Amino acid sequence: LTQMKYTGPEIEKSKLIPYYSQFLSEEEMKLYVEYFSRELPTTFRVNKHNRSDEFQQAAESLFDQYFQKRIPDKSQMQKLSSIPAAFQFIPSRIQLRSDENLNKVHKFLVLANESGYVTRQELVSMLPPVFLNCQKGDQVLDMCAAPGSKTSQLMEQVGINGLVVANDLELQRCHVLMHGVVQQPTPQLVITNLDASKYPCLQKFDKILCDVPCSGDGTLRKAREIWGKWSPAFALGLHEVQLKILIRGLQLLKVGGTICYSTCSLNVIENEAVVATVLGKFKNSVKVVAQEGLSELKRSPGLQQWKVGDVDGSFCEEFDSTKQKLKQTMFPPIDPLVKDQLTKSMRFYPWLNNSGGFYVCVLQKTAELENDDLSQLIENQAMNYEKLNEKTDFDMNFSKNMPLHPQKKIVQQEIIQAIKDKFQFESIFEQNDADQILENSSQRELLDIQASRVYLLNKHVQKILYANQNAFCTFHIVQAGCGCFEKHTGVRNNDKLNYRVEGPMGFLLQNTRFQMEMSLQLFMQIVKNGLQGENTSLKFDLIEDKTLVNELKKLESGQIYLVKIIGDSLTAQFINELSIMSFIGGNSIDVHIKRKPRNCLYCLLENQDIEEIIESGQAKRKANYRERREQKRKEGKGEKREKEASQKELDKEEKKE
Ligand SMILES: C[S@@+](CC[C@H](N)C(=O)[O-])C[C@H]1O[C@@H](n2cnc3c(N)ncnc32)[C@H](O)[C@@H]1O
Repeated sequence: LTQMKYTGPEIEKSKLIPYYSQFLSEEEMKLYVEYFSRELPTTFRVNKHNRSDEFQQAAESLFDQYFQKRIPDKSQMQKLSSIPAAFQFIPSRIQLRSDENLNKVHKFLVLANESGYVTRQELVSMLPPVFLNCQKGDQVLDMCAAPGSKTSQLMEQVGINGLVVANDLELQRCHVLMHGVVQQPTPQLVITNLDASKYPCLQKFDKILCDVPCSGDGTLRKAREIWGKWSPAFALGLHEVQLKILIRGLQLLKVGGTICYSTCSLNVIENEAVVATVLGKFKNSVKVVAQEGLSELKRSPGLQQWKVGDVDGSFCEEFDSTKQKLKQTMFPPIDPLVKDQLTKSMRFYPWLNNSGGFYVCVLQKTAELENDDLSQLIENQAMNYEKLNEKTDFDMNFSKNMPLHPQKKIVQQEIIQAIKDKFQFESIFEQNDADQILENSSQRELLDIQASRVYLLNKHVQKILYANQNAFCTFHIVQAGCGCFEKHTGVRNNDKLNYRVEGPMGFLLQNTRFQMEMSLQLFMQIVKNGLQGENTSLKFDLIEDKTLVNELKKLESGQIYLVKIIGDSLTAQFINELSIMSFIGGNSIDVHIKRKPRNCLYCLLENQDIEEIIESGQAKRKANYRERREQKRKEGKGEKREKEASQKELDKEEKKE
């Protein structure tokens, strides 16, 4: 397969061509048009989600086997050695979709992405977190985070005992971010909805990702409409906010910490001009850090000299105050030291690595910022915040009058105790001195024990909520930590303290006494039985091994168990770290996996095409309806109306197919 080329009329007429001809050589301009008109390869990462390196390796191998069977030509599929568990397919998304055979791969990838096993992400978009290189336990701010693909990389880097504060100005986009991580255990995550350029100071951060809003002209390979729509006004309009966000990031960064500034634009006004301004402003306290890592990915040094393009297509070499849209900060620096540093920032042109276009610059704060009024204020606030460290008892007895964030409140110990007693687990967070469970409930009374969902947060997240509740700094928190227990309110269930584990939280129960050893074969039979998400429980009658059935019958009915697959195969390792819960009924067994992840897991482990699953599921559903109708008829309840209703159901099902 060769890469498809786009030859729409917009390319020749696009204002991008005369604009970039001012910055790039003739040879580079040829490459610019050549590469930006090609389809973008498909890239994705296998997610680790706070699990071990061995888990990620096992997952990577399983995905590799799956894809090798379907794309045997090695030139069409590569693992990206520089980025953990990242893959690149030369066929673009569109090619994958339109090719008869590759379409199956496409469908599987979509499913794996929706199920949370992989994240589809452009190669260059994976780079900023890799360069930022956060360490386990780091406290990180992601200033412009939605939709959140980089946030998930940061969470993997800092682990469950670190902190990632992911922020975005758009509330809707914050929700997209939140739903994107819902499959993951994220006790280290806080999502806030604020203007990053005025981000309040609660604390200072070890690392900051500053992936600012930009004109996006580096995404031309997938966003074709930019060819026609683009104007120099885009960058001119964004420069100021980009600069403000970077300055605020530097104010919130600890001395010695690093900040990664990035855009998916190649426009110098949004990139080098912003970086040069902060380097000029904070000469003695900020420097660019050259990046030796990821050496297999080619890059060009940042520009040192440029002209500033105005909206009318003209270019200025020097600041001219009569040109309203142009600002002094958009012009190249004069100071040779600043110029020199700009070459340590990185331009990723599409022709260098067959990717999208991107700009990345890693800056270090070497001392407190000079000439900055806000810095002292922020420093004082951060010190107040640090004093909270002295407070160890976060399980406060809030009175009703206390200012409290509407979404969060402390659950009564009674609930926590009931949960611990029920599941008999020693939380991994307790071992790390970081366990705390809060409730999310806006409508209810403060100490109401009807908590519908119980959240798990680590100590950093807890501290942010505490500070926020105490009103020395209040701001909009969209989500903190992750839901881990849900109240079970069945009709027959009068137990006020009956909680169930939520999907991805099985990992909390590693040390529970409720564990069930299971053969891989039985596990796959259970998974297969519920591929369509209906009547998922596997009846004991269908299990061949009757000794096993007798063992299962001895287990406590109605209880959930953590699945432990016997053996040390790659597959067993992978499933065990997924921490899947199984449910034992009176005469059946099931596993807690929702329909999409279940289908995806089955395809992956059995190396099956997704269509086969869907077809067999549809056939099964049809058979189920027929069986039910037949049973009703036999029971003498086959009244005309019922028949019609069930016929309707069947027709509906056939129509759907
Ligand atoms: C380039 S996107 C970020 C992509 C994200 N880092 C990722 O990897 O998924 C820029 C984001 O900045 C947000 N944004 C725009 N202005 C902002 C501001 N003043 N403060 C915070 N976020 C802002 C936009 O809503 C958008 O989601």
